[in-house]
Amino acid sequence: MAEIPTLEDLERALGSLDGKRILVRTDFNVPLEGDRITDDFRIRAALPTIEWLRDRGAHVVTASHLGRPKGKPDPKYSMDPVRARLAELAPGVELLENLRYDAGEEGNDDAFVRKLVDGIDGYVNDAFGASHRAHASIVGPPKHVPSAAGRLLQREVDVLLGMRNDPARPFVAILGGAKVSDKLGIISALLEIVDALAIGGAMCFTFLAAQGDPIGDSLFEPDQGDTCKRILDGTSKSIHLPSDIVGLDRNGTVQTYGTRLPEGAKGLDIGPGTAAQFGDVVIEARTVFWNGPMGMFEDERFAAGTRAVAHPGAWPF
Ligand code: 3PG
Ligand code: MG
Repeated sequence: MAEIPTLEDLERALGSLDGKRILVRTDFNVPLEGDRITDDFRIRAALPTIEWLRDRGAHVVTASHLGRPKGKPDPKYSMDPVRARLAELAPGVELLENLRYDAGEEGNDDAFVRKLVDGIDGYVNDAFGASHRAHASIVGPPKHVPSAAGRLLQREVDVLLGMRNDPARPFVAILGGAKVSDKLGIISALLEIVDALAIGGAMCFTFLAAQGDPIGDSLFEPDQGDTCKRILDGTSKSIHLPSDIVGLDRNGTVQTYGTRLPEGAKGLDIGPGTAAQFGDVVIEARTVFWNGPMGMFEDERFAAGTRAVAHPGAWPF
């Protein structure tokens, strides 16, 4: 990863890290139920960088966004639950308040950047999941202080470069999660290099709707329908979409459907048939790029699809 400075480069740039205040931009945008963290993976994923810095005597100040509070404080997106978990995992590490409580974060406002780097000696970006955003805390600090990629970001970039340049084939991409609009760009880019693409998660409903299936009350991005249709029609690669869906009916009962959801039904996971089909795609593959869960896995009732793709052949769980 020659082009991106690493933690070692930062240490060299600062002479020593001992006693230095290092701002670490993390992606602590964890799933919450009320103020309970349902999955702390993103917090644990930042620990190698935090611990490396602390071993060298640095004072670590972490900063992250949480949710989309729209530029002003909103108690629903308070960092308190994350701060409490971080205190258990890495006692003594500071965590700033939700970056998106300030409109300067998403506005990439230089005054906000200056506030962030005030009293800071160096900056580390370890927020891989937020690095596609040109927000103040991502792109601002490197203009002011010596900066580097953290271990998580460094590893993601290394692995992705390897996949892009020399993937073992068949190379398949599995895409899920909720935000179709964020991923349309990468879908087109991925279709250039993968042999097959499987789409699950909430984003599959925008694709299913684009091909004419009724999707009930499932999440979907109406303004992305045409682009999804163009993607489906415009490639010679195989794109696998779900053939069955697990969700809640209008009375809140878990049901398994085909791809035509009745009115009031909400799709929340891929069904067992789709899980088996995606599993076959994974078993055949020699490289798998996976982004985003296949369903709302934080709820045990909708976790099976994601697990099945992670452990093909092991259904049921
Ligand atoms: C994520 O969870 O995808 C990242 O933290 C980015 O969040 P965002 O989509 O609200 O910018
Ligand atoms: Mg994301």
